[in-house]
Order: sequence, then C-alpha cells, then structure tokens
Amino acid sequence: MTVRLDKAGHLVGRFFGHLRAEPPGPGDQRFVHEYLDGPCAQLFWSQNFPDQRHAVDVARRVHAVLPDDEGAVEAALLHDVGKGRADIGAVSRSMATVLDAAGMPMTTRMRMYRDHGRRGAVDIEEAGCGDLAVSFARSHPGPVPPGVDRERWKVLADADG
Ligand SMILES: [Fe+2]
Repeated sequence: MTVRLDKAGHLVGRFFGHLRAEPPGPGDQRFVHEYLDGPCAQLFWSQNFPDQRHAVDVARRVHAVLPDDEGAVEAALLHDVGKGRADIGAVSRSMATVLDAAGMPMTTRMRMYRDHGRRGAVDIEEAGCGDLAVSFARSHPGPVPPGVDRERWKVLADADG
C-alpha cells in the first residue's frame, strides 16, 4: 500500500508538471541532437511538449552521472515515446495510473497509455536506436532485465523516478 501511495504522490507532482511544461529551448534542442539523429530523433520530436520536457530532464540527470555513456542518455531521451500512441490528456493519464493501481477496468486508450513502454520499445527498435533504449523503454519502471548492466539501469531508473 505504501508503494501505491508513493506512486499517487508522484502522480500529483507529475500532473502539475505536465500542465506547466514548455517546449525544449535552443540549449535543450542542441542537447537532444547531440544524442539522437534520423528516425530516433524523429521519435523524440513526435512527443508532445510535456513528454519532451520530461525526457530532457531525465536525460540531463543521467548525463550528470554518466557523461560518457551515450547509450544511457539516448535511452533516457526515448524511454516514454510510446505515450504518444495513447493520445490522451493529463487527466486521463492520471486516472489510468490510479485505475491500474486499483486493478479497475479502464478504456482502450488508458490501456495503451499503461502499456506505453512495450509499445514504445517496438518503435525504438524499428527505428534502429540502441539496445539500452529498447530495453529501458520496454521494462521501465521495473527491475533490471537479464543482460543489462545494473549500474546503468539504476542511474536511468533513479533519473526517471
Ligand atoms: Fe519517464
């Protein structure tokens, strides 16, 4: 239960963060282009502004800890691209998280939102981005999958937390 309440608090913070997010400025755009190009960059820019903002924030935290790990920064930038597929607003996203935690039924779009990691991972793999980007999108938030470096996973998970 504690975990669920923690999640609810996190959710409220994320909800208000979502409402006030602005598009990444010139400095952030340069940062993104240092780590992504081609179809992988297209996936990033296909996100809405709040998701772009969140991804840059996570990636800058990862970069601060692992400045030479391009794959980890790339993974942070792309980890939530699947959320765009669901095409739902901040209120429905929050409801989806609450309904999922309570084990209650939800709409198709809410289920797409809940499953954003798995869906995003398919797009990331098809775009030819890095292995860690595929793994982190698919399995976050969750324990490190087999074959992935624990330290890199922890840095990514902490940055996204
Ligand atoms: Fe995230």
